[in-house]
Amino acid sequence: MKKESNPLPFDSFMNPGVGRYAKTYKESLETPDKFFEEAGFLLDWYSKWDKVLDKSKEPYYRWYVNGKLNLSYNALDRHSSGSRRNKAAFIWVNEKGDEKIVTYNGLYNRVNSFSRALLDMGIRKGDRIAIYLPMIIEEPVAMLAAARIGAVFTVIFSGFGAEAIAERVNDCGAKMIITADGGYRRGKFIPLKETVDRAIELTTTVETVIVVKHTNHETNMVEGRDYWYHDLLEVKNYVEPERMDSNDPLFILYTSGTTGKPKGVVHGTGGYGVWVTNTLKWAFDPKENDRWWCAADIGWITGHSYIVFAPLILGLTSILYEGSFDYPSPDQMWKIISYYEVDILYTSPTAIRALMKYGDEYPRSHDLSSLRVLGTVGEPINPAAWQWYYERIGSSQCPIVDTYWQTETGGFVVSPALGIGYGPLKPGSATLPLPGIDPVIMNSDGKEAKAGEKGLLYLKRPWPGLMLELNNADEKYRTMYFGNAKKYYFTGDYAIKDKDGFYWLLGRADEVLKISGHRIGTIEVEDALLSTGVIAEAGVFGKPHQIKGESIVSFVVLKSGVNLDSSVEAIKNKVRDNFGPLLIPDEIHIVGSLPKTRSGKIMRRIMKAVYQNQVPGDISTLESGASLEEIKESIEKFRKELKTVDLAHS
Ligand code: WTA
Repeated sequence: MKKESNPLPFDSFMNPGVGRYAKTYKESLETPDKFFEEAGFLLDWYSKWDKVLDKSKEPYYRWYVNGKLNLSYNALDRHSSGSRRNKAAFIWVNEKGDEKIVTYNGLYNRVNSFSRALLDMGIRKGDRIAIYLPMIIEEPVAMLAAARIGAVFTVIFSGFGAEAIAERVNDCGAKMIITADGGYRRGKFIPLKETVDRAIELTTTVETVIVVKHTNHETNMVEGRDYWYHDLLEVKNYVEPERMDSNDPLFILYTSGTTGKPKGVVHGTGGYGVWVTNTLKWAFDPKENDRWWCAADIGWITGHSYIVFAPLILGLTSILYEGSFDYPSPDQMWKIISYYEVDILYTSPTAIRALMKYGDEYPRSHDLSSLRVLGTVGEPINPAAWQWYYERIGSSQCPIVDTYWQTETGGFVVSPALGIGYGPLKPGSATLPLPGIDPVIMNSDGKEAKAGEKGLLYLKRPWPGLMLELNNADEKYRTMYFGNAKKYYFTGDYAIKDKDGFYWLLGRADEVLKISGHRIGTIEVEDALLSTGVIAEAGVFGKPHQIKGESIVSFVVLKSGVNLDSSVEAIKNKVRDNFGPLLIPDEIHIVGSLPKTRSGKIMRRIMKAVYQNQVPGDISTLESGASLEEIKESIEKFRKELKTVDLAHS
């Protein structure tokens, strides 16, 4: 497969202050209304906006005020009868190599039929519905059908358990759950519908469940509540898209924050649509005939923005993969790239590090020459992984587009921008801000940090992809993100800007962990531990992990009378059942007490420091020194236990 020549300015000299990128960026800040007016025209609107940005109700910024559009129309209708009618929208593939190709017209028909089914079931504009599906075509179909009729969807990652589902369904009041009879993970059957049945017992709002037959495993269907998806899709239909207001909500996506429960990030229609579509063009410069593989899960924001909305609105062909990258063999990812001649691969540093560990012979035994651009997302990429990705996967020919962003930002905010002529890269840096993004790093004195000085990253002005609000959490929205003196958007991340103006993201400054790129709150893990019923207190923190970026360490105090011997495995199983495998700590240490402040707050910082053999800092507010000693002792015990395990293996 031949490749178009790709100018690679990677190690050439470059001054970010000159060139096409610099000009575009400057325009975006100097004449934002004009700039974002043009950006808005990448989408089709039923009627144009009155005003590009309304700041009058800050920090609730509203974009493309009074503009009317529908994102399902933009993703489907405008391609399905034109030259892209027979073009593949999705090439779906699974671990076994089964393949399904869905054209733009095919996707359009499916979405229309499912929209009709939703209407027939009584779902209307503004209603909330939950989607709990594996990575199958029906997942984007469900999202687009909801968008078509104006229902607000919330996708719940298929790795979450019953309590995690119930928590989200209850927070948004979902009337319906769309699920499947099951899914597969590393060849193993996952009983999704059973999990939904258990979740519904913990909720009050769900009236109907739609079940996709995916695995053919027997499932219990509740009369009058549960319906087979294929029965509803029998007849071809057309449903006129709702004329959505630019600032009508499109979806709610739950993500972890600094406090207990996950927060429901609400994204709107116009601003979000404009932002994801423009940022994909700016950052990756995709071409009409590219095969784009965003190897994320649709359950996270990366999948929402860059598997579903942006690529479809741009009319691209995406790979949709249901499976693990190293299953059934360590070269699964390279096989798919080679077989499907993927042009752009977008994945996480964790995946890169894990695949790197298997050795070079796996990528080397496949023809990866179709690749033109490589991307990463979700966590900082260490220079060694960057180099490996660049040299071994991209044959030192493909630029690495390291995209920094968040669930709340809707789309990329700091990233190389191949589509606006911008050049060199530095391994480990997400490089420069995209148009409209005005970052500032503040040091601990509350002053703007100097070049090379670490500080907290803020974005000074709003951009179209910024969330509309948090569901049911106004106060949190205002204080957590905009509670600072200048009312800038606070990212929660540490960063450094170097002397060339390049940004280096250094990880979270709050109680949020990044485990294999997944965003998990320490308090969420503590809640999951407490949900087992056998734990009285739990303290959780992250520690660096070579492949996953971070791993979860927990210390727990058992309720009195709980049997010590069988508890760690039992706790893990219960957390898996209730919340899913994501929240299971890598380490569970049972202790007699945890270090706490006088007001009863668990001091995770102290626990972490002691655990890492560092000076714990100020411990004067601890209740007693005794619990510290105990933690130290339990760590010693754990170290000894580890040694025996290693010996047994060797
Ligand atoms: C981290 C994922 C360094 C960061 C899209 C952020 C990154 C959090 C990068 C958001 C990157 C994301 N370099 N760190 N390229 N991309 N992060 O909401 O800590 O799951 O705040 O969105 O991931 O995670 P979220």
